[in-house]
Amino acid sequence: MSADAMKRAAAAAALDFVEPGMRLGLGTGSTAAWFVRLLAEKVTAGLDVVGVPTSEATATLAREVGVPLTSLDAVAGLDLTVDGADEFDPDFNLIKGGGGALLREKIVAADSRRMVVITDESKAVARLGAFPLPIEVTSFGAVATLRAIAEAARRTGHAGALTFRAAPGGGRFTTDQGNAIVDASFRQISDPQALADALVRIPGVVEHGLFIGYASTVIVAGRDGIRRLDK
Ligand code: 5RP
Repeated sequence: MSADAMKRAAAAAALDFVEPGMRLGLGTGSTAAWFVRLLAEKVTAGLDVVGVPTSEATATLAREVGVPLTSLDAVAGLDLTVDGADEFDPDFNLIKGGGGALLREKIVAADSRRMVVITDESKAVARLGAFPLPIEVTSFGAVATLRAIAEAARRTGHAGALTFRAAPGGGRFTTDQGNAIVDASFRQISDPQALADALVRIPGVVEHGLFIGYASTVIVAGRDGIRRLDK
């Protein structure tokens, strides 16, 4: 199976969690995009659901393929969010934000009764951190915030290169909220909770890509098929 076929297979397996009438959080990234496309086929066949997109990219795709959308403020909570991840550990802690959508992804996951993460075997790690941790920061004072992140990381026993994410066309990448992203290459995150607690106390940090305690199911596509891991 190709990498893309594995992403599609994980997304297809997540459809089992979808029931008529559900309000769904729609994740961002190439795996989540497969979920949106496959969900659209069900919608065309008559499934009645509504989605809240976690990025402008997902909103655009959902409109193109015909998944009805609403806003988070228009519904009283979501039944289910299906989203990808950059890494997951045995406790279902995640690194997210490789696509730069971590803020909306976390707001949507936090407002969902259940989060199903769709991944492939390349995302499984014993300990988070090989994938650089995305940290969304305000553009104002971004360099001062980066220094504060380095200090918070040091205090919690983490160290590594911190770089502003570059936009494909040059300059700094900006999120859907107009913020910057610092990618923190810690290699190993020994204490995700301590690091998360320290990061949220920094004024210029809007959100970070450590998702602790959100996922209840992880679907892992591998060359031998699909595995479903439940908490
Ligand atoms: C976007 C994300 C994505 O879920 C994550 O980057 C995984 O993406 P992909 O499915 O393309 O590997 O967090 O902000």
